[in-house]
Amino acid sequence: MTRDARARSADVYTRPRAVRRPPIKARRPRGNPLPDGVSVPHTAPSDWSPESWKARLAAHQVVYEDRAAVDAAVLKLRSLPPLVTSWEIERLKRLLAEAQEGKRFLLQGGDCAESLADCNPESIANKLKILLQMSLALVHGSKKPVIRVGRFAGQYAKPRSSPMETRMGDDGREVTLPSYFGDLINRADFTPDARRTDPHLMVRGYQHAAMTLNFVRALIDGGFADLHHPEYWDLSFMHEAALPADLRAEYQRLSAGLADALKFMEALGETSVAELTRVEFFTSHEALNLLYESAQTRRVPRRTEHYNLTTHMPWLGDRTRALDGAHIEYARGVANPIGVKLGARARAEDAVALARALNPAKEPGKLTLITRLGAPNVRAALPGLIRAVRDADAGPVLWVCDPMHGNTETTARGVKTRRFEAILEELDHTFDIHAAEGSRLGGVHFELTGEDVTECLGGAGGLSEDDLARNYASPCDPRLNYQQAMEMAFLLARRMANGG
Ligand code: PEP
Ligand code: CO
Repeated sequence: MTRDARARSADVYTRPRAVRRPPIKARRPRGNPLPDGVSVPHTAPSDWSPESWKARLAAHQVVYEDRAAVDAAVLKLRSLPPLVTSWEIERLKRLLAEAQEGKRFLLQGGDCAESLADCNPESIANKLKILLQMSLALVHGSKKPVIRVGRFAGQYAKPRSSPMETRMGDDGREVTLPSYFGDLINRADFTPDARRTDPHLMVRGYQHAAMTLNFVRALIDGGFADLHHPEYWDLSFMHEAALPADLRAEYQRLSAGLADALKFMEALGETSVAELTRVEFFTSHEALNLLYESAQTRRVPRRTEHYNLTTHMPWLGDRTRALDGAHIEYARGVANPIGVKLGARARAEDAVALARALNPAKEPGKLTLITRLGAPNVRAALPGLIRAVRDADAGPVLWVCDPMHGNTETTARGVKTRRFEAILEELDHTFDIHAAEGSRLGGVHFELTGEDVTECLGGAGGLSEDDLARNYASPCDPRLNYQQAMEMAFLLARRMANGG
C-alpha cells in the first residue's frame, strides 16, 4: 500500500497519521474582476472530489472504532434525500452577495450545540421567534432587509479544546473520559458508554435535522412568520417581568409601527413590500464531521456543481481552517456559500490565503469571514485583516462579527460564561473599525436561545455569577438568553439607525 492509500484508509477510523501536504496554491482568477452583482458559476477544481479531504490531515477528526458501522452509516446518509435544495443555496448566495454590497444585513444565530433531545415543537418555535424578533429590530434600525440564518437543523458537532475531560467521581477519585463532541458524534452524559463515538448518530442527526427543518418550513409556510402579524412571535414569557419594561415597550412600539417601516422601505425603492414581507430562514452549521458533510455532498440534476445538501451555509471553525487541512480541502469544492471563523491568532496572510483558496473565482456571495477576536483584541487585529483582504484584491467578502467566542471566560467556580458588556464592546469596536477602514460590517453571529436560561452575565437584567447555577442548560458554550438577545438586538439597531 502506498503511503497515501494507507493514510486514506486509516483516516476516519483510527488516529490519522500526519499527512502534511503543501497548502492549496492560491490560484489567480481568470480574466477581469466581475462587475458588481454579476454572479459567476462556481467551478469545482479538477483535483477535487467530495472525498478528496480524506487524503489530508483533519484537525478535530472524529475517531470511530467500528469501520463497518461507519461505512453503513455513510451509505445510509448517501441514499437519503437532501435536506435543502441547490436553488435555496443559490438564493442565499445571491442575498449574501447583496449583503456584501451593503444592501442587506445578516443575522446568524442559535445554539452553540443543538441537541437531539431539544428537537421538540416549543424549542424549535422559540428559536424562530427570537430570530424573528431580533431581525425585526435590526430591520428597523438598519433600514435594510435582514437575512436570517439559524445555527440549527444540523449544529450537532463540536470541536473541543481538549479531547479528554476529567471530573471528580463520587468516590473522590478523578475520572477521565473522552470529551463530548456533540450529538452527531457521542452523548453528553459523563459515562464511558455515552462518550463512545457512535457512527449511527450521524444518521440520527440527519433525521433530527430533517424533522427540525420540516417544522420550520411548515411554520413559515403557514404564516407564523408573517411580518404583518409579529404578535404571533411573542414568546410565552414575553409579558413576564424578565423583560425590562422599557424594552418590552420598545418592542411593542416597533411591531405596531411595522406597517410604517414597511412603507418606508418601499419608499427606498429597492424592493417591493411583498419581497420585504416574505420571511425566509436559512440553515447553517459548522462543517466539522466531514464524513457527515461529504455523504450528502452531491451533484444535482441539471447542475454541474457539487452542493452540501445538509445545510445552506456550512462554516469552518477557527480550529479547522488550516490551509493544508481536510476541512479547507472539502470546502473549496462545494458550491454553497461558506463561512470561516477567524480568531485572534489569524494572521492577515491567513485571511488572504483562505479567500483565495475558497473563492478563487471571486464569486459574489461565496465567502463570509466571521471574526471572533475578543473585545480586547479587536482594535489590534481587525484592521490588518480588513486591509490585507482588500489590498490583495482577494475577492468580495462579507465581514461578520461573532462577538461570542473570543469573550469566553471561566468563573472562579469553574463555570464557562461570557459578559454581555464584552460582547457588546467587541461589536462596537468592530463597527467602528470597519467604518474607519472604509469597509462594512455586514452581519452578526450569536450563540443565543429563545429560552430563559442563565449562561451569560450582565445585560439589563443584571445576571450575576450566583444566577448562573439557576438555569444553565447549554452542554457547551454559554448563550445569550431571550432577554439578553433582544437587548443586544435593540442596541445594535440603535447603533445602526445612528449611522452604524
Ligand atoms: C462555534 O461557533 O461554536 C465555535 C466553536 O466557534 P469557533 O470556531 O469560532 O471557536
Ligand atoms: Co460555541
